Amino acid sequence: MTSTAITGIGELTTNDEELGALTDAALVIDGDRIAWVGPASRAPAADEQVDVAGRAVLPGWVDSHTHLVFAGDRTAEFAARMDGKPYQAGGIAVTVRATRAASDAELAANLRKHLAEAAAQGTTYVETKTGYGLTVADELRAARIAAEADEVTFLGAHLVPPGEDADRYVDLVCGEMLDAVAPHVGWCDVFCETGAFDADQSRRVLVAAKERGLGLRVHGNQLAPGPGVQLAVELGAASVDHCTYLTESDVDALAGSDTVATLLPACDMSTRQPLPNARALLDAGATVALASNCNPGSSYTSSMAFCVTTAVLQMRMSIDEAVRAATWGGARALRRESGDGAVGILRVGARADVHVLDAPSAAWLAYRPGVPLTHAVWRRGTRVR
Ligand code: NIG
Repeated sequence: MTSTAITGIGELTTNDEELGALTDAALVIDGDRIAWVGPASRAPAADEQVDVAGRAVLPGWVDSHTHLVFAGDRTAEFAARMDGKPYQAGGIAVTVRATRAASDAELAANLRKHLAEAAAQGTTYVETKTGYGLTVADELRAARIAAEADEVTFLGAHLVPPGEDADRYVDLVCGEMLDAVAPHVGWCDVFCETGAFDADQSRRVLVAAKERGLGLRVHGNQLAPGPGVQLAVELGAASVDHCTYLTESDVDALAGSDTVATLLPACDMSTRQPLPNARALLDAGATVALASNCNPGSSYTSSMAFCVTTAVLQMRMSIDEAVRAATWGGARALRRESGDGAVGILRVGARADVHVLDAPSAAWLAYRPGVPLTHAVWRRGTRVR
């Protein structure tokens, strides 16, 4: 195993409570783990040294919400939205048709292309979902293909396939589909929203998944206030994603729970929705994550930097809060923020996922909006950029 010392770090964001943020720092990667973090003057020797000349270093972005097993694009739908047409859950069916028609090789190549695109921008840990198959065979195929991502979520309850009876489809999801897909995934998600699945249907899916040992996630409160947040909290979901329309009692429920509020600002902008009230969540004590929601319908970006910039400039999150939400927060939403091989954190024993910015501080992510700032990236100890 080769060790690499990254030296000359002007500002080091560790997300570790004891280490905090360091200046004039260094870290050592050994194999796929962080072996040492501390002041540059005390850095141990390593096989090779990379001097980053005063640049800022962060944990790699943790993108805890994407939908990357898909084919086709929805440019026309996007353009129509920009002309004033509303976003509707039913658009998902367009991608379902294209995905079903694509070969395994096409879907895998598209997934790989987007994972590489994300890694080149500093994203080193990615969750992705099924949900554009919606038959037992197509969901199982999507789950197998998605295994190239770090975390895989089953989203058979993304949309009732057009022409099918909703309750009969929920029976299928809770039975044969979950039986087939569960061995290939760690998580189950449901789109709890008008036009997709109501509270009772969502609960059935989540309970069936929990019985099979899967972790829970919920798409909730995206297009209107609704039951998604309360359901997620009640069932102990790791995260509820979107949170665009929250009542005070939703905020209180999140603040009093272990469920992470995952905010997807690129999606809200692309669907002409208001941005979520991050301030209310943070001030109440809720844990917030930021994710890209990269998918061809509601949010076709893999840029976590764009989400962080938006969170700071438009959502009143501080730079520290936004960077933490896009790294540690995403890891927490996936329950990967602690223990051996933790992500979203730079400390001894964490996975060596390191993002060097071409900037002296993380503040430049918002200070220089839209400017590509990724200088170098290590993923699992391997330099990928
Ligand atoms: O998270 N909200 C539901 N699912 C995706 C959108 C998928 C699509 O429009 O294709 C989301 O925004």
